[in-house]
Amino acid sequence: MRLLAVETSCDETAAAVVESGPRLLANVIRSQEDLHAPYGGVVPELAARAHLQALVPAIERALALSGAGWEAVDGLAVTQGPGLVGTLLVGVHTAQAIAWERGLPVIGVSHLAGHLYAALFEHPGLRPPALGLIVSGGHSDLIRWTEEGAIEVLGRTIDDAAGEAFDKGARILGLPFPGGPAVDRLAAQGDPRAVDLPRPRARGLDFSFSGVKTALLYEVRRRGHLDEQARADLSAAYQEAIVDALLQRVEAAVAREPVPVVVLGGGVARNRRLRAQAQARLGDRVRVVVPEPDLCTDNAAMIGAAGLIEWQRRGPSRAPFDADPGLGFG
Ligand code: KG4
Ligand code: ZN
Repeated sequence: MRLLAVETSCDETAAAVVESGPRLLANVIRSQEDLHAPYGGVVPELAARAHLQALVPAIERALALSGAGWEAVDGLAVTQGPGLVGTLLVGVHTAQAIAWERGLPVIGVSHLAGHLYAALFEHPGLRPPALGLIVSGGHSDLIRWTEEGAIEVLGRTIDDAAGEAFDKGARILGLPFPGGPAVDRLAAQGDPRAVDLPRPRARGLDFSFSGVKTALLYEVRRRGHLDEQARADLSAAYQEAIVDALLQRVEAAVAREPVPVVVLGGGVARNRRLRAQAQARLGDRVRVVVPEPDLCTDNAAMIGAAGLIEWQRRGPSRAPFDADPGLGFG
């Protein structure tokens, strides 16, 4: 089965062509980073307009790269939620308009489930049960992928998402948007022990990042001026606090419910320290699976992977369907 997949939940206009396996035939991502950078964050209205301009060309490009035309496509998959309502609508309506015009079925899927299933391209044999850590700009969820293929949330953030914490911390440190990659880069030159930041406290398997963010703010204010080395040290310490908090919860979950695999996903799974530490801290107990960096941040390949899995479970969606900004894992 071959699906054309569309993703417009935030500031990446993305289209991909995937095949059962899953196999990735084409993966096109048009980032709006430069558009939003002057504002220090994503401006929903601008994002939606940019999707309108970029989406159809991205779909055409993906199809051209896949080596065959619409005649080889069996259906479409599109991100139904969660995300920004205005940007989701562009994808959901474009996908359904194309589907209607071409007489193809279409399935709406969860962006969060997509972040989990992104791992399948490099690990097609991956099967539940598994634990997953899905960490992005809008979500930090510790999940269990059950034997039946359902996704249960074991823990979530009670305030900021991990990516949001990276982005806000970067702003406090005077680093450019998007903050996560900037902190990651600078932290490599810093010493995480140069400053002691508190570890977030939250109950059970939940996360909390607002405390460490406030501690960083006070530390920066206390120092007044930051030279390059101080900025690097603070980046390293802040990153260490977030990574430590995330992995501490995963370790607790693994101790509570033994599983053979832990899957990382979402934009923050691009973080080099998180990738290395996940392997170092969990690798002796479980297999740690992390998608290649470009499949961690938002893309349509993962929406295609989710489409293939969900199609098996429930078949295509009944059109017309709407965007669902508050959708969970599906
Ligand atoms: O999954 P994603 O592309 O979009 C959402 O679904 O939110 O995640 C974006 C988030 C942003 O907060 C960004 O700063 C963060 O992922 N991010 C990183 C890195 N690359 C992206 N955070 C830490 N280190 C990175 N290398
Ligand atoms: Zn995402």
